[in-house]
Amino acid sequence: MLKTLDPQLVAFRDDVLSGLAAPIPAIPARWLYDHRGSELFDEITRLPSYYPTRTETAIFHEIMPEVAARVPKGAVVVEFGAGSQTKTPILIEAISPAAYVPVDISGDYLEQSARDLQERFPKIEVIPVVADFTKPFTLPGGVEHLPKLGFFPGSTIGNFVPWSGTDLLRHFRNLLGVGAQLLIGMDRVKPVDRLIAAYDDPEGVTAQFTLNLLTRINRELDGDIPVEAFRHEARWNDILSRIEIHLVATRDVSFTISDRSFSLSKGSSIHAENSHKYGQRGGRVLLLAGGWTPLVEWTDPAGDFAEILSVAEPERFAP
Ligand code: AVI
Repeated sequence: MLKTLDPQLVAFRDDVLSGLAAPIPAIPARWLYDHRGSELFDEITRLPSYYPTRTETAIFHEIMPEVAARVPKGAVVVEFGAGSQTKTPILIEAISPAAYVPVDISGDYLEQSARDLQERFPKIEVIPVVADFTKPFTLPGGVEHLPKLGFFPGSTIGNFVPWSGTDLLRHFRNLLGVGAQLLIGMDRVKPVDRLIAAYDDPEGVTAQFTLNLLTRINRELDGDIPVEAFRHEARWNDILSRIEIHLVATRDVSFTISDRSFSLSKGSSIHAENSHKYGQRGGRVLLLAGGWTPLVEWTDPAGDFAEILSVAEPERFAP
């Protein structure tokens, strides 16, 4: 029995119970990020085989003069996510916005990172918003009339299936309005061995990150999942152009969660995450389908990662 009606906990329980009862058992990836999960993800970003974070950071150092030339002065930057301690300051430093609005569901982490940023940039108004950025929310008062730059780095868009990724981009457009710009990071398709190494590192940190989901379920939802009976597996799904993360049962297992019983046979899995990789054309089509017209695209010299600046153009009569 759940001891509280905390809406987050209720949503977590609903997602886990319905996800595990589905024909292909799956749990939404956002539940990977409890406190421990966020710590482990931070560790992942520093692993030698996990190239996206350092590649995107290097791109940022290169492109900021150009970004600054294209973004109107005195803008408000709305970041979808709490903000990274390395990437966000590079953008803020370059464009000197009037205000910075990080939006994240995790209030504690958001408040802390917003405080750090405010200390570093005392002239900028930092207004954190605690909200699930995938759902409708309103921008804080006072920024309505400023030019807007949405900021969605890290290839987080890749964690959404294209169907919901498109919805998300449209939701960003509705929130920011016509004329707004969006700076978004997308990870590129590359040889499978490099992709697998990035999501199944020899140090085993990504495995810990995925398995932590089961520990979280046991702790927060009164579960008795035998965590040692599962292993992390990263698979490349070529037709869907994505890395899939699975928790594979290494033997037949039965367990209960919040008084509900589940069984998995040996070799079957719980699908825990997707990370879509986009080619140049595919990434642009995704943006266009979400209501954003690409203006300029930058990559690292090897073409491993792309950063795209786009604009929400007014709707036009289409021939
Ligand atoms: C947060 N996101 C962009 C990461 C990715 O690369 O898809 C999450 C991740 N999962 C395992 N490693 C990294």
